[in-house]
Amino acid sequence: MKVEELLKPFPIKEFHPFPRAMMGPGAWELLGPEAKKLGFRKVLVMTSGLRGSDTVEKIVGSLRYHGLEVVVYDRVESNPKDYNVMESVALYQENQCDSFISIGGGSSHDACKGARISVAHDGRSVNEFEGFNKSENPKNPPHIAVSTTAGTGSETSWAYVITDTTTDPSSPHKYVAFDDAAVATLAVDDPTLYYDCPVDYTAQCGFDVLAHASEPYVSRLNFQPSLGNALHAIKLTAENLRQATWNPQDLPGREGMMYAQYIAAQAFNSGGLGIIHSISHAVSAFYDTHHGLNNAIALPRVWAFNMPVAYRRFADIAQVMGVDTHGMTDVQAADAALAAAIRLLRDVGIPEKFTDVKQDSYTKNRLGQGPTKFYENAPVIRGDAEDVDRITNHVLGDACTPGNAKECTFATVRPVVDHCLNGDLDDLLG
Ligand SMILES: [Fe+2]
Repeated sequence: MKVEELLKPFPIKEFHPFPRAMMGPGAWELLGPEAKKLGFRKVLVMTSGLRGSDTVEKIVGSLRYHGLEVVVYDRVESNPKDYNVMESVALYQENQCDSFISIGGGSSHDACKGARISVAHDGRSVNEFEGFNKSENPKNPPHIAVSTTAGTGSETSWAYVITDTTTDPSSPHKYVAFDDAAVATLAVDDPTLYYDCPVDYTAQCGFDVLAHASEPYVSRLNFQPSLGNALHAIKLTAENLRQATWNPQDLPGREGMMYAQYIAAQAFNSGGLGIIHSISHAVSAFYDTHHGLNNAIALPRVWAFNMPVAYRRFADIAQVMGVDTHGMTDVQAADAALAAAIRLLRDVGIPEKFTDVKQDSYTKNRLGQGPTKFYENAPVIRGDAEDVDRITNHVLGDACTPGNAKECTFATVRPVVDHCLNGDLDDLLG
């Protein structure tokens, strides 16, 4: 899809719905009764497995205790692939399931959203539904999305992201689909399920929240109903991410980040995203690195790129990130917001550029199982001129790019991508 085509809908804003949600410590224990109230009888549970925790076992056990039949698909990969979706669709159909529960972060929820849409279209390939509202049958199976991270917000959004592996392996394609039919039936955000999330993963997911909040706050969509949630999510992230990362059993930190995840996703749901996400999708497409990690590395560069068209908005961001902006001009305050984001990134231990990310530093992001088949020959991130070019081209075709605060062309975006791959963050600090 051409960027010009994506720009057309912007004069008319559209508000996309959220599902009902249950939030707070212990919410997961209501899953069985809630599923039965929704008419679930035979559930397909979709998850990465969350190995190293007992989360899947205890939820499946509880569902069975409440009389539900449960089939488990636990092979969802990080950056979910189209084949994960289609394997789960086959399992759903073979077992004549009637409902879905996804347990995990964005990978599990997104694969599940794609599977529901495929099921509603007689098992057609999920890749056929790339784009905006491509569902022809809005009645798909019901879905409860149970979060174990605080980043994606997929449990409450209309978006899902899939990697298309049917394309040339030298040029993989990761796409975002937005579909009102993909919205879950019920979201469950229980901070006690987030206690087992590892340190690096917590930090990276937190920067997904900061991207979800800051992109609509400065987006050219300028969707007023999103701005309050966006700003408050930034405040919650600035206040809670360090604690959630370094003190994982601390309830206020974990709960603060879960609320931040939830309302940040509701902000972008109708308020748009930008090229933090487009760069993130492109790097994942080529290297299968974690979405939150990619966002964290892209975020300071994209904030700096967008600032000249949104100094006032970035000054607001500085304030909610704890900067005393009294006596500052908007430009000075915007610079202080950028410094605060870089400080946060460093405080939670995230690599500063893509070429610092090594194979062994993101094994967790491949769910502890090493490279998946599709990426087994993928090298460490190269960052050479050809790499910068192909990532820039992927960015320009991404569905998030038209929402970016500032107009994007190959010539303007390429240096941003190059800096994400090879530049030093200190360059951005005045
Ligand atoms: Fe995201």
